[in-house]
Amino acid sequence: MNIMITGATGFVGTKLMKSLLNEGHTLYPIIRSEKKINQFLANISEEESSRVHPIAGDITQHELGLATATQIELTNRIDILYHTAAFLSFNPADRDKTFFVNVEGTRHAISLAKKLSIPSFYHVSTAYTLGMDTYSEETLHSTDREFVNDYEESKCLAEHLVWEQRHEFNISIFRPAIIVGDSNTGEADTTFALYGLLKAVGLIKKLADRGRISADETIHLLSNGEASNNVVPVNYVVDVLTAAVAHAEASTIYHIANNEAPSNKKVVEWIKEISGVDQLEIVEDSSRLTKKDEVINEPMSVFHSYLTRTVIFEDSNTKKLLFKAGKQPINLTHVRYRMLIETYFTK
Ligand SMILES: NC(=O)c1ccc[n+]([C@@H]2O[C@H](COP(=O)([O-])OP(=O)(O)OC[C@H]3O[C@@H](n4cnc5c(N)ncnc54)[C@H](OP(=O)(O)O)[C@@H]3O)[C@@H](O)[C@H]2O)c1
Repeated sequence: MNIMITGATGFVGTKLMKSLLNEGHTLYPIIRSEKKINQFLANISEEESSRVHPIAGDITQHELGLATATQIELTNRIDILYHTAAFLSFNPADRDKTFFVNVEGTRHAISLAKKLSIPSFYHVSTAYTLGMDTYSEETLHSTDREFVNDYEESKCLAEHLVWEQRHEFNISIFRPAIIVGDSNTGEADTTFALYGLLKAVGLIKKLADRGRISADETIHLLSNGEASNNVVPVNYVVDVLTAAVAHAEASTIYHIANNEAPSNKKVVEWIKEISGVDQLEIVEDSSRLTKKDEVINEPMSVFHSYLTRTVIFEDSNTKKLLFKAGKQPINLTHVRYRMLIETYFTK
């Protein structure tokens, strides 16, 4: 199949391209950075490279800024558009940009898909369009809810834009939970969530090595030890997205989630053991943080809401999709979870 992908040079997009190439598809990635796509092309075979046709584009522009001649050439030639591009900032100062890239960018991607007569639009959203709720079905969420941040709200608005098109062409929405590295290799090209925590621990390790924190000084991490962070390895996300080529159903929402994730307490125990930073203690009450704790907790402060509650995402549509593709649902074993942490501290 001929597949167009926005966000192709991102954390998920790169792995998705690799997987789709393995399945024999021909790709039309929309890219901003020649350097990034060249890096990707340098790491695949010549035969695979011959099936990658990069197109310069920007989702903040009307029809992604594609020239008329390119549009004419591609009309009726693309089977699926995966829209994965987004701006992943939880910083309130980025509010305007977050809405512009994530909402207007989706509007532009939809209008390009229509212009090129692409029959299927696969939208990569986030499971956290549910806002502050703790249980979610694979259905569209209302926009008049409380969100943790602008990113969640923008992604929810974008889902509505996509859903409104369900009578125009085949749309499917994929909602990953929090994406971590590859559970086979440990590799993770992201600074999100778990990696914010690992970065904080790395900082403690450095301070301890320089003697600026003594070995018997307890460092408090702000979190809820009993809660679980709903993390999914990037290879699982990509497996679902790849299975979608042949098996996604129109007007359907898919949660890509891990409702069996270990508790934060367990994860911190592993981090202590693996990093050698033994002086960590989880606290729920921010008034227990010292000035030093506050500095150390800073890298993960934007993820705080995700570290204090357990959220269950119903995922029967995804399980059905995987079953049809002959693939297994998620099974992130403790051994593999630990390996993700080990990879971070040995890289
Ligand atoms: N990471 C997670 O934990 C997570 C969880 C749930 C859902 N998601 C969703 O998964 C998708 C992929 O996320 P990710 O983790 O792969 O993020 P990422 O690594 O930050 O990649 C984002 C991609 O979007 C592209 N992009 C951003 N602004 C653009 C613009 N104006 N025009 C064209 N492309 C633009 C970036 O292009 P450049 O490569 O040129 O920078 C990059 O390729 C997003 O839709 C995100 O909301 C992610």
